[in-house]
Amino acid sequence: MINRSIAILDFGSQYVQLIARRVRENQVHSLIFSPGASPEELRRQNVIGIILSGGPASTYAAAAPKPHPGIFEMGVPILGICYGMQALCEHLGAKVHAAAQREYGRTALNLTGDDALLRHVPRGTTVWMSHGDIVSGIGDDFVTLARTPSCPHAIVRHTARPLYGMQFHPEVTHTPEGSQILRNFLFDVCGAEPTWNAGSIIDQAVEAIRAKVRPGAQVICGLSGGVDSAVTAALLHRAVPDRLACIFVDNGMLRLNERSRVEAIFRGHFKMDLHVVDAAARFLERLRGVVDPQEKRIRIGHEFIAVFKEEAKRIAHAHYLAQGTLYPDVIESGHSAAGTAANIKLHHNVGGLPAELGFELIEPLRDLFKDEVRMIGELLGLTEEMVWRHPFPGPGLAVRIIGEVTPERLELLRRADQIIIEELVSAGWYRKVAQAFGVLIPVASVGVMGDGRAYQGQSVIAVRFVESTDFMTADWVHIDPNVLARISSRITNEVSGVNRVVYDITSKPPATIEWE
Ligand code: XMP
Repeated sequence: MINRSIAILDFGSQYVQLIARRVRENQVHSLIFSPGASPEELRRQNVIGIILSGGPASTYAAAAPKPHPGIFEMGVPILGICYGMQALCEHLGAKVHAAAQREYGRTALNLTGDDALLRHVPRGTTVWMSHGDIVSGIGDDFVTLARTPSCPHAIVRHTARPLYGMQFHPEVTHTPEGSQILRNFLFDVCGAEPTWNAGSIIDQAVEAIRAKVRPGAQVICGLSGGVDSAVTAALLHRAVPDRLACIFVDNGMLRLNERSRVEAIFRGHFKMDLHVVDAAARFLERLRGVVDPQEKRIRIGHEFIAVFKEEAKRIAHAHYLAQGTLYPDVIESGHSAAGTAANIKLHHNVGGLPAELGFELIEPLRDLFKDEVRMIGELLGLTEEMVWRHPFPGPGLAVRIIGEVTPERLELLRRADQIIIEELVSAGWYRKVAQAFGVLIPVASVGVMGDGRAYQGQSVIAVRFVESTDFMTADWVHIDPNVLARISSRITNEVSGVNRVVYDITSKPPATIEWE
């Protein structure tokens, strides 16, 4: 079964994924395509409406991306946003030129016409603008539905066909009526139905997995403890419970109780065939004397592949390897729905393995955004703690210990890290931050502990809380200082070997999120 979908043609706007998510929030399936997607490609995906995104180009520039002319003849409704409006109007004979005044930010919008697109939208509202070009000379083919003080055609509609353009951005929260306008476009103009929800996503994924996995062949799923691999495993378990084997490698660099938590959920609750490999000693041996961060990563990566391979060979009839690739990874590596082969993002843990071992890949999440993965994770019965877990790097605590990784340092960091997370959760801040952790800096700093000066053998713990949406940029969290006070007091009291706690107040860039 192919979903009825809304296509978003990507003209290079930073908001493309946001538009796709806004559509899906209304329980309507959406897919992102390259700007020149052909009518055949769109029909293949059962497209019932098209949104042309904004973009940084000018339609009159030499290399400006253009929509395929055939999409305007498909008979499906089209909504052009910003550059998308300019491309649509220009194609149908209007003029686009640089505006006398660029327009950025909030501006007043006044409706001058009526249309299904504007149902329940007040006659006067505010919208978010970000443009340097403008449409003029719309001729007789369009009617104007709204204007702003400096944009005479802020919303236009074709007189004969369901083609709309709007100069502002309905997808951003700064346009208060934006979600109403998008809802009107989806349900009143395109005739979409709200059927894309956690239940139907699971049903479709299960159906697709069953259709793909041959009888008698086993699927291997590497569990990392993170939400993506956990939901992948839970979906496979729902689809082919008898043909799934999960592998969890304890590399010794995990957080406190990480392994027992994974065992409790997957072996205890789901009764999965879970292979836990206790490889801590092997990893520690490989890290002996290593201080260079890159070298730590390389050694951990190689060791992981060796351990995983050995374990995978023990699983009879293993033919498939499951991976938790998400839709943003697919989009970033080429628009898959547009037919371009997508590179598979190399998961830090299983990169290279499919080819080496001759596995066929299964990626049940490759059509989903992170919020949808969390939504179906909850419905599949994963714990809230697992579903909302922050990302954790493959090399684990090894890149959070400056210098050599030793069992003593791991133990110390694990205890400090546990306190940091506990306090964050109990203060209600866990979900408000993207990542939270401690870093062990094994330098002695003078302290007064008890009666005497403490110096030898003491370390510093740096606390790092960041907020980020894509982890490419991040900012430190302006957290309630009382939370920091409790963390500092507990660590210095409860973790012997630490006499100083500091808070990292650096953004990314210039710093990275991890310290190594
Ligand atoms: P940085 O430190 O580069 O981190 O700002 C960005 C995001 O990537 C995670 N990270 C890693 N994940 N293997 C991983 O699987 C790694 O070697 C690694 N290094 C960083 C980091 O935790 C953050 O979410």
